[in-house]
Amino acid sequence: MNFTVLRTKSDLATWQKQIQNEQIHFVPTMGCLHQGHKALIKAAKKFSAKKPSTVLVSIFINPLQFSEGEDFSKYPRNLEQDCQIALGAGANAIWAPSFETLFPKGKENHFVIQAPSSLKENLCGAKRQNHFDGVATIVLRLLNFVKPKQLFLGEKDWQQLVIIRKLVKDLGLQVEVQSIPTVRDKDGLACSSRNEYLTNQERKKALTLPKLLFEQSMLFESNKSIDLKNLRLDLEQKGLNVEYLEIVDLKSLAPVNYYKTKLCLLAAGVYCGKTRLIDHIFLMNRKPIVAIDGPAGAGKSTVTKRFAKQLGLIYLDTGSMYRAVTWFIQEQKINPDDEKELVKALSNIKLDIHLADSGIQQVLLNGQDISKEIRTPKVTAAVSNIASKAAVREKLTAQQKAIGLKGGIVAEGRDIGSTVFPDAELKVFLTASSKERAKRRADDLANQGFEVPNLKELEHQIQERDKIDSTREIAPLIQAMDAKELATDGMTIDEVIDTLTRMFREEIPEEVWPSNQL
Ligand code: PAF
Repeated sequence: MNFTVLRTKSDLATWQKQIQNEQIHFVPTMGCLHQGHKALIKAAKKFSAKKPSTVLVSIFINPLQFSEGEDFSKYPRNLEQDCQIALGAGANAIWAPSFETLFPKGKENHFVIQAPSSLKENLCGAKRQNHFDGVATIVLRLLNFVKPKQLFLGEKDWQQLVIIRKLVKDLGLQVEVQSIPTVRDKDGLACSSRNEYLTNQERKKALTLPKLLFEQSMLFESNKSIDLKNLRLDLEQKGLNVEYLEIVDLKSLAPVNYYKTKLCLLAAGVYCGKTRLIDHIFLMNRKPIVAIDGPAGAGKSTVTKRFAKQLGLIYLDTGSMYRAVTWFIQEQKINPDDEKELVKALSNIKLDIHLADSGIQQVLLNGQDISKEIRTPKVTAAVSNIASKAAVREKLTAQQKAIGLKGGIVAEGRDIGSTVFPDAELKVFLTASSKERAKRRADDLANQGFEVPNLKELEHQIQERDKIDSTREIAPLIQAMDAKELATDGMTIDEVIDTLTRMFREEIPEEVWPSNQL
């Protein structure tokens, strides 16, 4: 197997020339590799089977991130063993620069950067001044030299992950951040290079930390409250010296009133003897919900279905429910503008939505499978009008809320983020120009064997539908305040799904909802 240990910047540059066409997947480490690092390297290896890529692991014990009196000088160093471990896990090369390579003129003569104070001053940052500035400075430096396509970091160091994600976003760095769940040893202790310092007896004590955190998450799941004071006391009584214990927002890291938040982080830093350990648990009392709204023909169904499948979430197409009601009204020749008649008709409808992992959604109306019937152009032409009726919206919104009670779904529609699931973890407003949407609609119709009107006519129909959808009084098509817009003109379906997945990962860690749920 081809394996290279690079030392200098020019070693790195020569290697980069050799692998020219391959994307670099980068795993930065401080060495003393353990199961957690192995998992990062394996994830990097697995990441893009489609494109030629190569995995580079860096080993650099960064003095900038150690505070005075910390364990910089005794931090475990064993390059040979690290190389063996990295190689075994699938790395193609290791870059182990010296301090002089990265800071040839000493650190006073090079740029350093500062992490935002809102992110670095609590949790681990409260007692470790300059730690996150040191991490951000070195990661930026490594990224500038390595120029990777993907950067792999562990969720174990959640605060570090949040700060590096912010660094990448703020500075517009051309790298995508991928995170992997905390890896634990068999006994439950989160893997860390510092575990090496623990004596057998200390290790037994240290196990109290993951155990008690896990117990709290179970309490939270069953809607019981968490008493931080008691928890701190419990930890101290078991012999751990608590540095911090907080419940914080996942992204801002600000302390939260967890009764009101959907997903938050219970994080702790403790001393077990002289060894500093950190651990956390995510608190969530239902599975995640993703709301995807947007105008007709923006490609919502195609991408939402595949995105849901990829993440092991159930796909809910709320549009099909409005289509089913429309079909029924047309079949029964009901006048939708006669409110009494409409309400009576609705009371005669029993709509069953069978959701399947495969993404195929079966629509049964009063027991009859009408999944195909609701896709005709006749239904398409009338659905916006029917969906603008208060009685229809009320009935279907209630049913959708009930379907999503336990979460675990990706719902697609016009008012999901604003009305149906206002507390969805991720809200996306998927758009495309009316020209692009007309083109996609034409392809769709042709694929289903329907007659295809000319593109100008289709574009006009789409614009008319947008107008009805966005101007109706009840639950109009609007971008929820906290929704992120994703304009898909010129993007392939795979690119849209990749972008959605990245957006999802910014809200929902792998630890909460791993990608391989299916
Ligand atoms: O997580 C680590 O090992 C380090 O903080 C990192 C990201 C390699 C920077 O030195």
